[in-house]
Amino acid sequence: MKAVELREKFLKFFEKRGHKIIPSASLIPSEKTELSGTQRVLFTTAGMHPLVPYLLGEEHPHGKRLTNVQKSLRTDDIEEIGDSWHNTFFEMLGNWSLGDYWKEEAISWSYEFLTKELKVNQEKIWVTVFSGDKDLPKDKESFEVWKKLGIPGERIIALSKGDNWWGPVGSIGPCGPDTEMFIDVTGKPHNANCLPGDNCGRFSEVWNNVFMEYDKQPDGSYKKLKQKNVDTGMGLERTTAVLQGKDNIYETDLFRPAMQIIRNLAVSWKEKSGRIIADHIRASVFLISDGLTPSNVDRGYILRRLIRRAIRHGHQLGINKNLTHPVAKEFIHLYGGIYPELRENAEKIHEELESEEAKFQKTLTLGLREFEKIGKEITGKDAFFLYETYGFPPELTFELTAEKGLKIDKTVFNGEFKKHQETSRAGAKKNFSGGLEDHSDKVVRGHTVTHLLHQTLRDVLGDQVHQTGSNITADRVRFDFSYGEKLTMEQKEKVENIVNEKIKEDIRVTKTMMTQSEAKKKGAIGLFPEKYEDKVSIYQIGDYSIEYCGGPHVKRTGKIGKFKIVKEQSIGAGRRRIKAILA
Ligand code: SER
Repeated sequence: MKAVELREKFLKFFEKRGHKIIPSASLIPSEKTELSGTQRVLFTTAGMHPLVPYLLGEEHPHGKRLTNVQKSLRTDDIEEIGDSWHNTFFEMLGNWSLGDYWKEEAISWSYEFLTKELKVNQEKIWVTVFSGDKDLPKDKESFEVWKKLGIPGERIIALSKGDNWWGPVGSIGPCGPDTEMFIDVTGKPHNANCLPGDNCGRFSEVWNNVFMEYDKQPDGSYKKLKQKNVDTGMGLERTTAVLQGKDNIYETDLFRPAMQIIRNLAVSWKEKSGRIIADHIRASVFLISDGLTPSNVDRGYILRRLIRRAIRHGHQLGINKNLTHPVAKEFIHLYGGIYPELRENAEKIHEELESEEAKFQKTLTLGLREFEKIGKEITGKDAFFLYETYGFPPELTFELTAEKGLKIDKTVFNGEFKKHQETSRAGAKKNFSGGLEDHSDKVVRGHTVTHLLHQTLRDVLGDQVHQTGSNITADRVRFDFSYGEKLTMEQKEKVENIVNEKIKEDIRVTKTMMTQSEAKKKGAIGLFPEKYEDKVSIYQIGDYSIEYCGGPHVKRTGKIGKFKIVKEQSIGAGRRRIKAILA
């Protein structure tokens, strides 16, 4: 059965049983369902996630029985991607009872759907139920329903909270015991050491029915919810694999075409790298389509990591360029019928992916060359050197080192990182305080242009670039930054052009006082004060630049005048200086 038929069958089955089909919510939680503080979850992780207010008792406009296919993303298993059954992005088929039907109907329908609609052999179905613990009782009711349906007791495994309890999303909210359905994909003889929940490769978990009758409180206790809800989730990828007789998701019709494209591009083949590329590019396509762009903070950083990891695994296969376009194109084509937003946003998806790819390819080529040069004895200090000089992500150095079977002392890396922050701060303090010759009009204009220059350098050269100092007089602007190489003619021209464009756009410059954590969350760059200050002043240039700074600045960029780079030179290892004038 094709994935597209499975989606359709599922929705029709529950529609026939009084469920209203609702559309998939965005991968980015809406304001209404976005939790705050420590409970905050970056992405929609399950079909129930956008429904939290209704599980808590609010009336849903479409009634008490709902069903849908929900785009979901989980990054907690990112290290597992590449195995047979895990994905970051996945689709979840779900049905819900908001204070309506309960265990008997939910389990019976799941069983009917699996055996009658999907024609899964009853003998291959194994289930788990909640065993109970000191706080909460055993789920005897689910056990009984399964037995009544004909599943023998030895295929009903009782497990503790670690396995058979679901939720809440974040740290508080609706949750409850669950019963999970597994399909034996190997058909091997019974083995007491390999049961559902053992992760031994014999079973694929396809469906989970959660009986949400509890509301977890901030103090960790469980209160009964106003209503008893059912929340079910069937993994589309896993179920498709089982139905197509595959023992991994990458051989299903959801992945096969993209895997083939990657295989054709590859110079040599490593299955795991191919799978990581396919998984991560698919997730990135959906995230960009839902409005996210790669950045260094928050959700944008996860997206950046996904794209960069895909590109790095491209290198493992000998693909050093043009990886994202063909793979993303295939996914947009494959999913565009079900998710038309992918087609509408196709151009943007390609643009974002390609610009991130170009930036990262460069970092990667330089960094990998250096990594290989260092040879066998890679230390925490080396990892820091690679990061500081080439912007080579430390997690990558750690991964590469692990691949070589070597260990790296992360505490040494962290120590170096901290030391570096302190010296930059001390240096920056000196440079920034002495950075302005006076507050004349020309100096103030020069000061604002350094913010534009800082952001532009990061856009053109990569986000590892950061300011290390500046000095502004009425005659010229001097700007020092971290970067490992001489800028090319084209790069200099590009930087000059972007800065001048931003000046021409006559963008408003605004100052806001906010806490450091707020500022960092918004992606503010610059060296924040070492001493804790309640509020710091943040200058924003439209939505182009956001930087911690004491000022003063011009009111609009149009006041700056024409920007011209007159010199670009090295001022030590990994340090560059730009001298520019304003006409
Ligand atoms: N919320 C449950 C899960 O994610 C059932 O949908 O497994």
